[in-house]
Amino acid sequence: MAETPQPTPGTGPRDRTVAVAGAAGDLGGRIVRALLDRGAEVRMLVGAGADPARTAETARLGATPVPVDWADRKSVADALTGTDVVVSAWNGLRDVIVDRQSALVDAAVEAGVRRFIPSDYCLDWTRTRLGDNRNIDLRREFAGRADRAPIATTSVLVGAFTDLLTGPMPILQPRLRRVLYWVDADQPLDFTTRDDTAAVTAEIALREADQPRFVRFVGDTLTARDLARVSGEIAGVPYRLSSLGGVRTLSGMIAAARLFDRDSDAVFPAWQGMQYIRDMFTGRGTLQHRDNAHLAVEPTDVATFLRSWEAAGT
Ligand SMILES: NC(=O)c1ccc[n+]([C@@H]2O[C@H](COP(=O)([O-])OP(=O)(O)OC[C@H]3O[C@@H](n4cnc5c(N)ncnc54)[C@H](OP(=O)(O)O)[C@@H]3O)[C@@H](O)[C@H]2O)c1
Repeated sequence: MAETPQPTPGTGPRDRTVAVAGAAGDLGGRIVRALLDRGAEVRMLVGAGADPARTAETARLGATPVPVDWADRKSVADALTGTDVVVSAWNGLRDVIVDRQSALVDAAVEAGVRRFIPSDYCLDWTRTRLGDNRNIDLRREFAGRADRAPIATTSVLVGAFTDLLTGPMPILQPRLRRVLYWVDADQPLDFTTRDDTAAVTAEIALREADQPRFVRFVGDTLTARDLARVSGEIAGVPYRLSSLGGVRTLSGMIAAARLFDRDSDAVFPAWQGMQYIRDMFTGRGTLQHRDNAHLAVEPTDVATFLRSWEAAGT
């Protein structure tokens, strides 16, 4: 995988047409909005399984729904004809991330599309270890397929979504006034909001064709100790740090949780979340450099995100 050093600035032609797969999803809807805000024409690729209410909601933003049959390459290639870039925001396991995305790339090549942005939007999978994180490994496997195809591919890497801090990620515990951590309270952790991720993706999609293989953007990097301080300042009461153990404890918890979840085909079971936590707290998934300086998107730091969350009373 050849990597050029940084994204090439460009005005981004206003008449660019972008096709989005997974547009009815959470991040996909935000990417559609970010593309439309930047003047792009957006096609939503709508397969049989797409949620009709979410599809209609995203279409109302101004995107054009285009029905496709994912099993029929010609139907997908026809839907992509005339588009400059294909963005995937799919979630799923092998059947989606490897198989369906590979079929999408093949159809994009057939339709003469210039660039593909896969559904990565995660920590730096070029540095994590094979076998440590199932969902990351699927993205790495897909990258092997995409990099053999005659189309430019750009992965957007952002660390963890900041939004998860106030959701399923167990690190921040506002009711207990605690920040939980594993391994090291001083390990830097990368966070980027979903909206910033969507904005960066839209910016890259609308730039000149010649972009690097990876674009790394981070909203904020802070340690568990920093997070306790910031959360305490926002709440006006101190937050305490609580260690839940080292990497062996974390790996043991992952193995035990997997035992009870052997038959599940859930995309994001608890043990999968813990695999991400392990990649974060060991520093293996940390972004070593970032392209923020070459992007127009203003990063949202964790304190700003948490203040808005508090103000919204959610
Ligand atoms: N860095 C982070 O912390 C973080 C956190 C969350 C998500 N992400 C990443 O962001 C991307 C989008 O995630 P999201 O939360 O926006 O996804 P989502 O809303 O759950 O789903 C996006 C789309 O994926 C397809 N899909 C979802 N679940 C599926 C399943 N089980 N089987 C088949 N197709 C499925 C659907 O598209 P169709 O209707 O077209 O089939 C759906 O609209 C993914 O790459 C995800 O890993 C990153």
